[in-house]
Amino acid sequence: PGFGVGDRRARWMVIGEAPGENEDLQGEPFVGQAGKLLDSMLAAIKLKRGENVYIANVVKCRPPNNRNPEAGEVEQCEPFLHGQIEMIRPKLIIALGKVAAVNLLKREASVTSMRGKVHDYRGIPMIVTYHPAYLLRSLPEKARACEDLCFAIETMRGLQSVTVAPT
Ligand code: URA
Repeated sequence: PGFGVGDRRARWMVIGEAPGENEDLQGEPFVGQAGKLLDSMLAAIKLKRGENVYIANVVKCRPPNNRNPEAGEVEQCEPFLHGQIEMIRPKLIIALGKVAAVNLLKREASVTSMRGKVHDYRGIPMIVTYHPAYLLRSLPEKARACEDLCFAIETMRGLQSVTVAPT
C-alpha cells in the first residue's frame, strides 16, 4: 500500500515519509489533505501527478498512530526505495520534510539547514523542502516552500543544460 505512483520515465521524483490512513486505504502516496497540497506544489513547477514525476515514500507501510517511522522500519523499506530509484532514474529528487531528508541523507539536520542546497543521494541531485502536512499547519513556511520550488526548477534547468560529449 502507498508504494509509489507516477510516470516511470519521470525526470522528477518526490519522496515523502510514510503513507497515512488515506494512503493506506487507497494504496497510493499522498492522497489526503497533504496530498492535495502536494498536487498544487507540483502544479507550481508545472508538474501533474503521473506526468514526469514519480511520488514515493521512505517507508512503505503506515506506522501505527502516524508516529514517525523507526530506524529499523526505514532500513527494511530501503531496498524497495532503491529499487524504485533505479527503475525511474530521476534527474532530481525532492525530499519532503525532515523525516524523509534525514533518513535519506543519514545525518541529523533541520529542514532549515538542508534547504537551498543541492545534496547528493546515491549519485542523484536532491533538494529538501518542507513536508506539505507541515505546510498545512504553518502558513509562513509556504512562502519558503515556494522559494524551494523555484530553486528546484533552476536546479533542473542547470542539469538539463549540461550536455555530455559523445564518446
Ligand atoms: N505523508 C507522507 O509523507 N506520505 C504520504 O504518502 C502521505 C502523507
